[in-house]
Amino acid sequence: MNADELRSKYIEFFKTKSHAQIQGKSLLPDNDPTVLFTTAGMHPLVPYLLGQEHPAGTRLVDYQKCIRTGDIDSVGDSSHLTFFEMLGNWSLGDYFKEGAIRMSYEFLTSPEWLGIDPAKLGVTVFAGDDTVPRDEESAVVWKSLGISPIAYRPREDNWWGPAGETGPCGPDSEMYIDMGKEPCGPECEPGCSCGKWLEIWNDVFMQYNKNAVGVYEPLARKCVDTGMGIERTVTILNAKKSVYDTEIFAPIIAAIESAADYTYGMEPEQDRSVRIIADHVRAAAFILGDPKAVTPSNVGAGYVLRRLIRRAIRHGRKLGISSTVLVPVAEIIIKQFSGPYPELTEHRTFIIEEFNHEEQRFLETLQKGEKEFEKLLPNLLKNPKKIMSGRLAFTLYDTYGFPIELTEELAEESGLTVDRKEFDEAFKKHQELSRSGSEQLFKGGLIDQGEIATKYHTATHLLQESLRRVLGDHVAQKGSNITAERMRFDFSHPAPMTSEEVAAVEAMVNEQIDRDLVVTMEIMDLDSAKNSGARALFGEKYESQVKVYTIGDFSKEVCGGPHVTHTGILGKFKIQKEQSSSAGIRRIRAVLE
Ligand code: ALA
Repeated sequence: MNADELRSKYIEFFKTKSHAQIQGKSLLPDNDPTVLFTTAGMHPLVPYLLGQEHPAGTRLVDYQKCIRTGDIDSVGDSSHLTFFEMLGNWSLGDYFKEGAIRMSYEFLTSPEWLGIDPAKLGVTVFAGDDTVPRDEESAVVWKSLGISPIAYRPREDNWWGPAGETGPCGPDSEMYIDMGKEPCGPECEPGCSCGKWLEIWNDVFMQYNKNAVGVYEPLARKCVDTGMGIERTVTILNAKKSVYDTEIFAPIIAAIESAADYTYGMEPEQDRSVRIIADHVRAAAFILGDPKAVTPSNVGAGYVLRRLIRRAIRHGRKLGISSTVLVPVAEIIIKQFSGPYPELTEHRTFIIEEFNHEEQRFLETLQKGEKEFEKLLPNLLKNPKKIMSGRLAFTLYDTYGFPIELTEELAEESGLTVDRKEFDEAFKKHQELSRSGSEQLFKGGLIDQGEIATKYHTATHLLQESLRRVLGDHVAQKGSNITAERMRFDFSHPAPMTSEEVAAVEAMVNEQIDRDLVVTMEIMDLDSAKNSGARALFGEKYESQVKVYTIGDFSKEVCGGPHVTHTGILGKFKIQKEQSSSAGIRRIRAVLE
């Protein structure tokens, strides 16, 4: 079974169980300061898991593109990926444990669907602790279906936490396939990481909301969130050793092989480079192909993108690829995923241009770094131990963005070694500093569904409408980001705003706040919403049923919410900065005082 078949079957199965298919969302989450990317299928659904009504109903199914960067340095082994697709079905206060488990079982084992032999299935359920009891309810259902073994696992394994620091969470029940290996010992059971049991699916029973002070508040409406990773499942179903051995990666690896004139599978070190290029170019192409694309930069999601691209280029060089490897690989990816992700085709030119730009910039960086290194060399050679200090290597990295691996390579060519330990220490210290910097930014905890965020969210609508009225109809939202301290709004506009324009926009927003306009919400189908004059994000995918938020007589937008009920409570709106974000895009930073 290939990825396309799995994706279609999953959606089809849940449609037969009265689920509405919803569109997967952007990889770049709006209004969530705790994560840079959408990390799971449930992520865009957080407001609904917390109690908001979803326009498509109480049973939902979709596929969602995700990025997890926590393990970015492990990419290159046989299993880690930064980009992956997740299949998911949700119950919003509809079925709970029994319904979810019975449907999971049917999809996995019925010959009409995946047809997995039930004898090969094992599951885990939450073992319980001081705060939440053992999940016998799930165990009873699995038992009635004849599943064995059922392993009871602790919170570290069978609790699904929120994507960020706060949000909906609860115990989960994970489904595993027995790969037929001998158990690693008497304790070997589903959940064991020895390779005998591979996880295929996860049913999460959302019962709590972890709030900003770390308290688990029971949810008024219990929900189910499930997640099945497409790449992993295709690997297991086809009994492949690695995700990179599946049909998903075959065309991508073939493109790298032909650029590198290397055959995958010959040398472990080179294979690692091939896998890094395959994963990183795929992730970067999806970030660049997103309707809310960021461009490579030195902060946030743009920095992750830059790292992905540059690491891919470096590994391309390792494979002896002198010309660009990114573009031919990206072209394959765009074509391969054009069915489920038409946005890639739509943004093809942009994706290719950005890969080319970033490659150019990186080559300049490398040249500068090499020049600097050459300047340092006569002095370095005077060192009797032929050691280059780690601090110096760090300076090259910090000032010129010159990667440590390349410093090491150049050093080696001149018979020197770099004090890697000292470099790593300097690097770690630097990371800690920047991390504490970003924690500062989020010191309010997750406020995305909180009161302050809601206010900023409504202010964003007022700002967008005011910008259009002051600057013209060409203004379109290009991005938005909210923390407890401020809002940021990116929009298309060809020139810097004059101070008069800034003042006029600010005054217009404040006028709407003073008018204390009532905010109302209506659910309608997308066409009626557009006909009614509601603004929608260009290029964003919407469900067929959408929410339309109207702010008095001033603004009307298609939006998931939430919003305040009347504008009077927003306080005073102040634009702190208006600056360039990228070509043709301006960025406003504003606060509510
Ligand atoms: N949210 C759950 C996961 O990502 C289903 O595993």
